[in-house]
Amino acid sequence: MIETLDVVGNNQPQIGKVFLVGAGPGDPELLTLKALLLMKQADVVVYDRLTPLVILDLLEPRVERIFVGKEPEHHTLPQDKINQLLVSLARQGKQVLRLKGGDPFIFGRGGEEIETLIAAGVNFQVVPGVTAAAGCAAYAGIPLTHRDYAQACVFVTGHLKDGNLDLNWDVLAQPRQTVVFYMGLRSVHHICKKLCEHGVAGSMPVALVEQGTTPEQKVYCATLDTLSAVLHKSDIHSPALLIVGEVVNLRSRLAWFKTNTC
Ligand SMILES: C[S@@+](CC[C@H](N)C(=O)[O-])C[C@H]1O[C@@H](n2cnc3c(N)ncnc32)[C@H](O)[C@@H]1O
Repeated sequence: MIETLDVVGNNQPQIGKVFLVGAGPGDPELLTLKALLLMKQADVVVYDRLTPLVILDLLEPRVERIFVGKEPEHHTLPQDKINQLLVSLARQGKQVLRLKGGDPFIFGRGGEEIETLIAAGVNFQVVPGVTAAAGCAAYAGIPLTHRDYAQACVFVTGHLKDGNLDLNWDVLAQPRQTVVFYMGLRSVHHICKKLCEHGVAGSMPVALVEQGTTPEQKVYCATLDTLSAVLHKSDIHSPALLIVGEVVNLRSRLAWFKTNTC
């Protein structure tokens, strides 16, 4: 195991430690070997709604499990309480596994949790995970970059704040790139409208991937013009990821994972 930087003051006994670990987007076999090794050593796991439950089954029965949320509009524990919980468990001398869906540093608030740990003098380690964009795109047969169609890829939050999305739409509307929206299910209509207003053709292909990398994965393919209508007829639930770009057309040839195409 890699040694971590000791952030503790000299006169404070430090026994526990927090491991901030990415669990990947759903398929348990996308878990890293490092994550699996840490799961075997943990005393307690603190996990979110998007942590794949099949992964929790890999924990030793002795491991204490603490669920901390979060639903889109309903946090089981507010973020500052989660931060304090991690500190408190580590101070009890526990090896704490903070398990998060995808990657902890991509729309995962991992940075905030670590800032609190540093301020409290708690040692930690970060283990990256397969982020939803990489996992969903791979399992949907959509390469996020491609020499002929996209030389860049942007990850963006689609989370609405006060009914609005304060994004740099001119940048997102640039050609020859793929734009991936996390947390964009409720804002699909708004996103499609804004991209078109900023110059993207209504015929631009898009894919919405629901429960990517799991046996329940569904992929809805449409265009910016037609996506809202397609979703209107469907019963689609979070988690879902929106991929916008020419690369979506490659799916018709590259799809390999047995899934429901809608
Ligand atoms: C709060 S963000 C967390 C992202 C996570 N840290 C990561 O790196 O994937 C949650 C969003 O990730 C996306 N997401 C996570 N897992 C997904 C999955 N299996 N299928 C589709 N989208 C997923 C959805 O857009 C969801 O609203």
